[in-house]
Amino acid sequence: MDSRKTEQSTKISDSIEGSLKHRNRRKTGSSINSSSLVRELELPSKKMSGLAALKTHYRPFICPLDLVLSQIPEGARLYDIGCGSGALPYLALKLRSAEVAHGYDISVEAVRSAKAFDVDREKFQIVHMQAQNTPPPLHGYDTVTMVDVLHHIPPNIQDDFLRKTIAQMDSGARLIIKDIEGSKVVGAFFNQLHDLLLAKEWVHHRRSQDIRRVLQSMGATVSQPVLRWTLWYPHFQIVALVP
Ligand SMILES: C[S@@+](CC[C@H](N)C(=O)[O-])C[C@H]1O[C@@H](n2cnc3c(N)ncnc32)[C@H](O)[C@@H]1O
Repeated sequence: MDSRKTEQSTKISDSIEGSLKHRNRRKTGSSINSSSLVRELELPSKKMSGLAALKTHYRPFICPLDLVLSQIPEGARLYDIGCGSGALPYLALKLRSAEVAHGYDISVEAVRSAKAFDVDREKFQIVHMQAQNTPPPLHGYDTVTMVDVLHHIPPNIQDDFLRKTIAQMDSGARLIIKDIEGSKVVGAFFNQLHDLLLAKEWVHHRRSQDIRRVLQSMGATVSQPVLRWTLWYPHFQIVALVP
């Protein structure tokens, strides 16, 4: 990309960010924060068993789901890639009035836990998929989220997974990626320990700027990363608009 184009796309992404911030400040309000989300998840998580209940209930203290929700437009048609037990789709239905909130996960247990959410089954659909069949077709969704999934995907296919995701999405749809910032090596290491302990996996974090470049290579307009710390975990979020 020549320097004029780079400058132009940075301006476009800055203005996307500005207008998203403005719209979402108005619509999300200041009442959505980690504590209010933990309260929203209290009842449904009581119907889950063991570790799933604990992980779902307190997820907003570890992962800034409020930040993700702030970029989901009111009335969105949402698809959540690697949705775990379905907390984000559930919250998007309740707090962003999502028209539909669908998603999949490769974990059978996580998808089973999602049954605890007592919501309209047309609007809320969480299915199981085999990793080799993903990402699925994403036609008909205006918002796709991917929260802490990329670092669980083998490093040699991460870029390809991102490219395929963009290729599956409708033109004009937005992809919201929240992940752990790989350039913050100490914080990222703490998350590696966290995943080793809880998921029994050695995960592979990426730098947000590298993710941006992959998405831009597909013609997407990508916002600058937003950085947020929770406890000792460094999170980044970027929003990409599909060309
Ligand atoms: C840290 S959890 C995040 C779950 C959920 N997104 C959340 O934020 O609560 C990571 C999830 O990614 C899922 N995962 C791993 N590889 C995946 C893949 N290829 N496609 C979709 N999900 C995947 C795991 O099963 C796990 O549920």
